[in-house]
Amino acid sequence: MTKFPKDFLWGGATAANQCEGAWNEDGKGISIADVLTCGGLAKHTAALPDVPEAMKKHIAKMRGVTYRSGDQEGAAMAFKMNTYPEKGIPALLDDEYYPNHQAIDHYHRYKEDLALFAKMGFKCYRMSIAWTRIYPQGEETEPNEAGLRFYDNVFDECLKYGIEPIVTLSHYEMPLALTLKYNGFADRRVIDCYVRYVKTVFERYQHKVKYWLTFNELNSVVHSGFINAGVFSKDRRLIEAASYHQLLASAQVVRFAHDHYPQFQMGCMIGVSPAYPYSCKPEDNLAALKQNQQRDTYYPDVQMRGFLPEYKLIQLQQEGIRLPILPGDAEILSGGCCDFMAFSYYQTSVAAAQDEAMQRTAGNMGSFIFNPHLKKSEWGWQIDPIGLRYTLNLFYDRYHKPLFIAENGLGAADVLNADHTIHDPYRIDYLRQHIQAIKDAIILDGVKVFGYTPWGCIDLISCSTGQISKRYGFIYVDVDDAGHGTLNRYEKDSFAYYKRVIESNGEEL
Ligand code: BG6
Repeated sequence: MTKFPKDFLWGGATAANQCEGAWNEDGKGISIADVLTCGGLAKHTAALPDVPEAMKKHIAKMRGVTYRSGDQEGAAMAFKMNTYPEKGIPALLDDEYYPNHQAIDHYHRYKEDLALFAKMGFKCYRMSIAWTRIYPQGEETEPNEAGLRFYDNVFDECLKYGIEPIVTLSHYEMPLALTLKYNGFADRRVIDCYVRYVKTVFERYQHKVKYWLTFNELNSVVHSGFINAGVFSKDRRLIEAASYHQLLASAQVVRFAHDHYPQFQMGCMIGVSPAYPYSCKPEDNLAALKQNQQRDTYYPDVQMRGFLPEYKLIQLQQEGIRLPILPGDAEILSGGCCDFMAFSYYQTSVAAAQDEAMQRTAGNMGSFIFNPHLKKSEWGWQIDPIGLRYTLNLFYDRYHKPLFIAENGLGAADVLNADHTIHDPYRIDYLRQHIQAIKDAIILDGVKVFGYTPWGCIDLISCSTGQISKRYGFIYVDVDDAGHGTLNRYEKDSFAYYKRVIESNGEEL
């Protein structure tokens, strides 16, 4: 291979909760994303006694979860939880701003947005279905027809332009009702809710969608049980159980797809930040290996290979944690291996045998040991294009299955000029270097990569902070962190750049 494959899927990625808005329209239920506030978790956490000073600055930018409901373990997570026992249902607080409620109003503007994606030459569009548009509380016996119709329209619009939809089935937006009733995936019964929802959308969209991702970033459960799996607790036993249930749920729907829709391509998806050893000390190398196993590879190892790896079982045993394994589970896992592996890649990490006193830097939901050889984004995320080539090699060697880069990109505070131009040379540089790294992995290392969808191809709400001012897009959306603005769309300089990259199939970088 001397170039990008000719059918390489160039595109962009979003998630329903971060772009659609219309949070309560046409029968949609409340999702866990709908109770997240914008930034400033610290304001809800007052004392935060057990959080190191260095982390507090980071946390000050993170989102809080605020709503009124019955008794929750949420207090343990230092989130503000008001009780509203007489109703037993969540109520949103009047004095809070929930940025996902409006987001960028993609729900009403998807045609305009897809026309812009088509203008850039997208071959594919990675998006998610909001589970709560289909099953508002997660347990209805009949799906919500208006929700199903919305995605029919979106897919039809994609196909009109020859854009292949790549659909994430669950992207941090499960029904809040399932959290309140079951503590999310910590309860095995939620697998059935997920499977019912997935079967519904498989049947409905079988002729429109071929590529599916079962869960977004399954491994983020380690940092964020609530956003990832709807679990309102930091108890490791519950988090591990939830993640095990998600692995079972994923395997069940993959198996179902293989049996009923042989044309489907099923993918797992994790957020990768591979660890470099801090030094060449053997102890640091071993620490990096262990960090990679526990934080990244456990999840795709199960989803791609079909069994629980020994290193995980031993670690759980040492911690005295028992997974809620039932007879027959091993067959479920082995019967539901994915066809490809997708991942998001923003940065690498560093591992050291002794890491307590080390300087740290920000990451999506956790924090990382500072790497002095790398530059950082304005939000403190370290930038490492070579790390992307490294990651591609790592996973291709491990599974020898096609890889899909489902997210990558630079969050930056872009400026809209009076003439509606946006100059973002930093993003163009970032893209150039990362696309070159993909090209090197394909051409020099023989890795099979079949697509690249930079994150937030249109500006959207940040998952970790709730800000829109942390912009990733090629398309600027005129709205601020308080939701004010025209919501008009404008092309940034990176729009023309990426269009040229796609047109030349990655030859002109
Ligand atoms: C990924 C998530 O981890 O990172 C996205 O899948 C998220 O939902 C993206 O938006 C970027 O993170 P953030 O916090 O900058 O929005």
